[in-house]
Amino acid sequence: MRIVLFGPPGAGKGTQADALSAHYGIPKLATGDMLRAAVKAGTKVGLQAKTLMDQGAFIPDDVMIDLVSERLDAPDCQTGFILDGFPRTLSQAESLHNILDTKHTPLTAVIVFDVDEKALIERIEGRFSCATCGAGYHQMFHPPKIEDVCDVCGGTSFTRRSDDRGEVVISRLRLYHDQTLPILPFYKTLGLLRTVDGMAPIESVRRSIFEELEERALTTAAK
Ligand code: AP5
Repeated sequence: MRIVLFGPPGAGKGTQADALSAHYGIPKLATGDMLRAAVKAGTKVGLQAKTLMDQGAFIPDDVMIDLVSERLDAPDCQTGFILDGFPRTLSQAESLHNILDTKHTPLTAVIVFDVDEKALIERIEGRFSCATCGAGYHQMFHPPKIEDVCDVCGGTSFTRRSDDRGEVVISRLRLYHDQTLPILPFYKTLGLLRTVDGMAPIESVRRSIFEELEERALTTAAK
């Protein structure tokens, strides 16, 4: 499976990418996570990314394409991957297409999260993650089973993202409309789009994605 999860900030891409990664045994390539790791490590890319991310702006295409291209060459990506947060511009989508074309490993599907954008602010503002293992939560929709204790690692300290603030979220949503949504016709032409209701509960969204992917696998096998 080679999957792109496509949707605005807070749509649930990261939440579902974790489940898909565990189910199919393939890595999640979340460009936001990769950039936050680079910021933490103080690399050249991280230093460049920090200011832009805090403003809700995009990191330049050439930087992102190099980052993803290098990651796609790693051994664990050879059986598949889940892209979360990439591509975000038409140039990134075309580059990804060319990279995969050269490897003869086309995308299996692009899963589009259909969401009510007014609800996204609430989702983003309620989001937090485990400071130890990074597991993601929401104070209302997905709290830890035991209050203040991570379900995954038992950690007891949690963090919030510095770009999950009101005006920065609005900039991120604006960029999604201006730069990311225009990618959809490109994938439509390639027949890759599959849409799920991203407003359903987390478990239902997960089931819908699995159904879409199984159907897609059957259609492809029948050709
Ligand atoms: P990134 O980290 O990718 O952020 P994003 O795309 O804005 O997406 P989010 O992580 O905010 O949302 P999500 O869809 O993953 O939602 P989640 O599952 O967490 O990028 C950050 C920044 O990095 C960008 O702004 C940019 O600066 C830079 N960047 C990254 N990639 C780039 C690229 N390719 N090019 C240029 N720049 C790039 O869910 C949100 C919350 O809702 C959680 O608390 C969750 O528990 C909850 N939730 C999830 N699903 C549901 C549901 N169905 N019902 C109720 N609650 C739910």
